[in-house]
Amino acid sequence: MSQQPLDMPAIKAAARKLEQGELVALPTETVYGLGADAENPQAVAKIYEAKGRPSNHPVIVHLAPGADVGYWATDIPAEAYKLIDAFWPGPLTLILKRAPHIPDAVSGGQDSVGLRCPSHPVAQALLREFKGGKGGVAAPSANRFGHVSPTTAQHVRDEFGTGAGSPLACILEGGQSEVGIESTIVDLSRMATHGPVLLRPGHISAAQIEQAIGMLPCAPDAAAPRASGTLEAHYAPRTPVALVQPAELANTIDRLTAVGRSFALIRRTHAADASALEQQLMPVDPEGYAYGLYAALRAMDGASADVILVEALPAEDAWQGINDRLRRAAHDSQGILSRLLA
Ligand code: TXA
Ligand code: MG
Repeated sequence: MSQQPLDMPAIKAAARKLEQGELVALPTETVYGLGADAENPQAVAKIYEAKGRPSNHPVIVHLAPGADVGYWATDIPAEAYKLIDAFWPGPLTLILKRAPHIPDAVSGGQDSVGLRCPSHPVAQALLREFKGGKGGVAAPSANRFGHVSPTTAQHVRDEFGTGAGSPLACILEGGQSEVGIESTIVDLSRMATHGPVLLRPGHISAAQIEQAIGMLPCAPDAAAPRASGTLEAHYAPRTPVALVQPAELANTIDRLTAVGRSFALIRRTHAADASALEQQLMPVDPEGYAYGLYAALRAMDGASADVILVEALPAEDAWQGINDRLRRAAHDSQGILSRLLA
């Protein structure tokens, strides 16, 4: 997270742009967001256009610390306040029943709304400045639909460009996102009938949620609300990604090399490999790994190899959010490897 003093002139200018219905990229502790005034449907429409995202996919509304959740949501269960007390500001998004006056543009036509109070100091300063702290900033991750989320301002520039051709009025600088993967999403909008539902795992684990509300959130069923971050193919670089168990990595590399295929490698315990076009050694702990994951995927993508091999990770709880993103980035591991090795 940024330890820099806040650039208040830039933050105030960005707040005015948001109030005028323009798009602003903002740093958060999870990933960078592509923000618009959540109560201005034309501004929210610009997000969908810039991302190339289907308009029936809902976006998260970001709130200033201490904001009135009751303005945005209705029928709020007691569990929501327990989670807010425990984890806000921070990397947790709550799905609640949408208050009737909130435009359905932010919820893709569903009767719910996703709310999150980020902990990043620049995001908080922007949210306090925007509409005097009473507004909400709708912000999906600041990447093109399906692509890897950005964890630095430079990643956002790489996605959308700068200057006259860019759909963004400005990009606020906030250093590298501390958490590195998107927020945990818990759906409490159908609490009475479905209990808490974990729509997307993240840094805050299911066990931590259970500790706060006394109930373990369950996996979504087929009738769960749409969540684009839960699509099978998502979080993917342009180069195909294959997840390979550590014990099979050496053999996979030998076979790829034997048929003249190039590869980039994201390794954690495996030794360096001289035949990789590009490689990255990742930290062994989940926090460090998540922090560097998206930057590593982007860097390996730059090698234009035939495939990015990723050493598979432990299956323990602490890796759940990271494993979820990697599984989606590598949704066709088997198919890719068998085509390359054919
Ligand atoms: O960490 C994060 O959550 C980042 C930062 C910028 O806050 N944002 C983010 O947004 O990851 P996005 O749009 O890329 O992913 C948000 C997820 C999507 O899967 C979306 O479908 C889901 O949240 N979502 C938002 N509102 C929802 C709702 N009302 N019902 C169900 N899912 C919702
Ligand atoms: Mg996203």
